[in-house]
Amino acid sequence: MSKIAALLLLAVASVAAAEEPKAEQRFKNIQVLKGMPAAQLDPAMDVMSGSLGVGCDYCHVERHDGPPAMDKDDKQAKRTARKMIVMMQKINHDYFDGDRVVTCATCHNGRPEPRNVPPLERVASDKGEGQGGAKPSALTVEQVLEKWLQASGGAAAWGKVRTRAAKGTISGFGPQPFGVETMQAAPEKQRFTLTMPRGKFEQAWDGAQGWRAFGGRAQPLDDVDATRREAQLAPPLTLAKLLTGLKVSHDTPLEKGTAHVIEGRQGDAHVRLWFDTNTGLLARMIVRHPTPVGDLVSQVDYGDYRVVDGVKLPFLETIRTGGEKRTQTWTEMKHNVKIVPDAFAPPKASAPPQGK
Ligand code: HEC
Ligand code: HEC
Repeated sequence: MSKIAALLLLAVASVAAAEEPKAEQRFKNIQVLKGMPAAQLDPAMDVMSGSLGVGCDYCHVERHDGPPAMDKDDKQAKRTARKMIVMMQKINHDYFDGDRVVTCATCHNGRPEPRNVPPLERVASDKGEGQGGAKPSALTVEQVLEKWLQASGGAAAWGKVRTRAAKGTISGFGPQPFGVETMQAAPEKQRFTLTMPRGKFEQAWDGAQGWRAFGGRAQPLDDVDATRREAQLAPPLTLAKLLTGLKVSHDTPLEKGTAHVIEGRQGDAHVRLWFDTNTGLLARMIVRHPTPVGDLVSQVDYGDYRVVDGVKLPFLETIRTGGEKRTQTWTEMKHNVKIVPDAFAPPKASAPPQGK
């Protein structure tokens, strides 16, 4: 084979691998989740933890004297979980045409040991979304989005925003809140820095490629779609453009008042945006992300809207996912700050970033 042909083959092979590495290629001890994209491993683990209502350490050994040893099979619960994955796949294959109908949550419903007796009382149906008080919306997708744009400041005010620097704290990862900073530029560049006692976690998206790093070594970004949702500098102008097949859903009760809900798809995720019918502002975003063990559902609630340079921004974000909850509180937001040209580039001397 000519040298050039060999090089080309190598390049193609590494591009293919860089696009969709499989879980068993990136992790050491994958026996039953083989073939799943490596990027789905984290979400799948969140689904299992959330379905059973447990932490990672329920199945994995915690080590305080070195890197975590998630590949070890010391715990019975991890070995049982493997059998459960196989059982679940078999039920779905044999009885539901291979659709992921039965999941860990179907039986476990937030407990490690499922109920095997019926509940004592009949529980009234959850007053959740889609039920109890939902009614058809009188507005179209365009009207809901237009109302949001007007309520949040209008196109002219948003158009003047070129960059944003924000500072705040995130709580919910441990006893103490961590400092968080973001740097954004139009339309969807973002660098996110979380300062933890053990080091800095950083993540960036420059509109075409992204990376994340803990302690300075950059790796390709796993979840480009989620990062792009967060990176929108002027969400009322651009967030809905990330979604396809947008349609209006039923109006749905919020804690206070009701919401107009629109829904669409971003890749294989299903995204729903809730707008407070009184204020017109984005109140909630719910994303369902398929994994082999069930959908990972994440919910962000937006609150404490304040006007900054003529546009309304949420200073409080409550994020719930896989049974965990964290709160992001912003203390400072500044617009049109100067941003250095390589602000979104990965740290020098690290793995090459990965595109979309
Ligand atoms: C209910 C049990 C259970 C829980 C809870 C759980 N895991 Fe896992 N985890 C597993 C199983 C089982 C595997 C191996 C899957 C396989 O063999 O295909 C695994 C594999 C992994 C691996 C791959 C390790 C390697 O190198 O082979 C990582 C990383 C991981 N889990 C992280 C986590 C994290 C982080 C959490 C908490 C968010 C978590 N897990 C919660 C059962 C669990
Ligand atoms: C069809 C119902 C069903 C499904 C689906 C199911 N489980 Fe289970 N699971 C059970 C039952 C029942 C038990 C208790 C078995 C016992 O007590 O011997 C159990 C036990 C377990 C245990 C051991 C709990 C302990 O005692 O420490 C783990 C871990 C577990 N399941 C994980 C999972 C995971 C992860 C999934 C999804 C991949 C899953 N299960 C899906 C029914 C189910």
